[in-house]
Amino acid sequence: MTGAAGRSAPPAPDLDTPRYHVTGERNWINDPNGPLHHDGVYHLFFQANVHAPEWGPPSWGHVSSTDLVRWRRHPDALAPEPGRADADGCWSGCARIVDGRPVLYYTGVVGDGDDRVEAVCRATGSADLTAWAKDPDGPLVAGPPDGLDSGYHRDPFLWHDGREWQLILGSGTTTGERHGTVLRYSSHDAATWHYRGEFFAASREAGGIDLGEHWECPQLLDLGDLTVLLLSCQDPKAPRPLLHTVAYTGRITGGAFHAHGPPRLFDHGDALYAPAAAVDAAGRTLVWGWVQEPLAEHDRARAAKVGALTLPRVVDTDGAGLRVRPAPELEGLRTDLVRSGPVPDPAGAPGSVLCPAARQMEIEVAVERPRGRYGVRVELSPDGTRALTVAVDAEAVTVTGPAPDEGCRAPLDAADPAALRIYLDGSVVEVFAGDRVALTRRIHTTGTALGAVRAFAAHDGTRMDCAVWRLSATAVDEAPDEATGA
Ligand code: FRU
Repeated sequence: MTGAAGRSAPPAPDLDTPRYHVTGERNWINDPNGPLHHDGVYHLFFQANVHAPEWGPPSWGHVSSTDLVRWRRHPDALAPEPGRADADGCWSGCARIVDGRPVLYYTGVVGDGDDRVEAVCRATGSADLTAWAKDPDGPLVAGPPDGLDSGYHRDPFLWHDGREWQLILGSGTTTGERHGTVLRYSSHDAATWHYRGEFFAASREAGGIDLGEHWECPQLLDLGDLTVLLLSCQDPKAPRPLLHTVAYTGRITGGAFHAHGPPRLFDHGDALYAPAAAVDAAGRTLVWGWVQEPLAEHDRARAAKVGALTLPRVVDTDGAGLRVRPAPELEGLRTDLVRSGPVPDPAGAPGSVLCPAARQMEIEVAVERPRGRYGVRVELSPDGTRALTVAVDAEAVTVTGPAPDEGCRAPLDAADPAALRIYLDGSVVEVFAGDRVALTRRIHTTGTALGAVRAFAAHDGTRMDCAVWRLSATAVDEAPDEATGA
């Protein structure tokens, strides 16, 4: 229907669209690509399809920030080009400074299905990283090494080991019992690459986790005393879609990665996939993940934006193992402190009201002498029948909602402090429990009116302290570069 002036009515604002998480300009995004801290600016790229609310031949979207809170959108860094090795997509990869110049290493794709060729391609950037020139001579590595029984050969990740450049790719076997592999190449100039063999492989299942049929987006995190290999595990043929990321700790010897033991999930929710890591000027390892969109196709068509990137997480180690925490800069998202201090009577049913719920919120919970279960409930409908519940007991943290039987669970180490940090942004929920456990989920609210935020505890003696902030509703300044004169 068009109005009297001949124009369509503007679409109703999509209240579930995340506002302080990085999203695409419009339509679809998936993996974060090539995070890079350069000249005091954080650059973040991502797989983008602006043409439809679903995956399609991706370009590389680009945003940058000086504070990890406000981002500025730039023109796409890469787009598929007919006749080139990336004619059917500029798939994932990384960004590096090579001989003083910014360089993107990415997967150029030609063809589809079993005929698809996945090549390592390169583009060199201007000093401000906003203009990129692809190598005129075509891909650096045209496809899988001769005789390798895999069509998967993608998502280059590079590092310099003090002697030469190393490049790893995600792959998988295609005969026998299929399982993931990581392949390694090396080079003296980061341009001519020699295949060196398998960097890491594991059977289909380890530590009770299904590792899929092939691996994507391998990321190597050098955390000083620990080396971590992140692998995103996929099985396109599994009856239920399998997309999750595991973290192996281990070390590199003889050109291969040796795991110290079984992997653990990098995130215990059901939405994070394909995380990408960068080391900033302060030496911190920052990781962003893709927050997947579970909406059915017909709902996707109505969503303003499909897919988002997680908040930046600082990944490090404290001697007891891996820690994953939200970057401290995220305090800059806070606009109003809505309430803080002790919770009166959390043990009274159905919990103590803290404040009205909002769509952009951060909730911090500290607890003393917990006995039994405690947590926070955010009512997603005025009567509270639809709710997000974050509950902690001696063994685990669970995040359920919108229905009480839909949820995810992460085991907790008894030694972990039980403090919670919960970020809500439209349908995106990121929960951090203690210093080691993260759960990312998407919970669609459907209605326009929310209920209350409540804190609850099973036992009278549990002392809870909660702070709630409203958070900024703009992550990305959408002004195009030309308009700002940049
Ligand atoms: C991971 C992934 C990558 C690939 C990209 C394509 O989600 O499948 O392996 O490069 O997405 O968009």
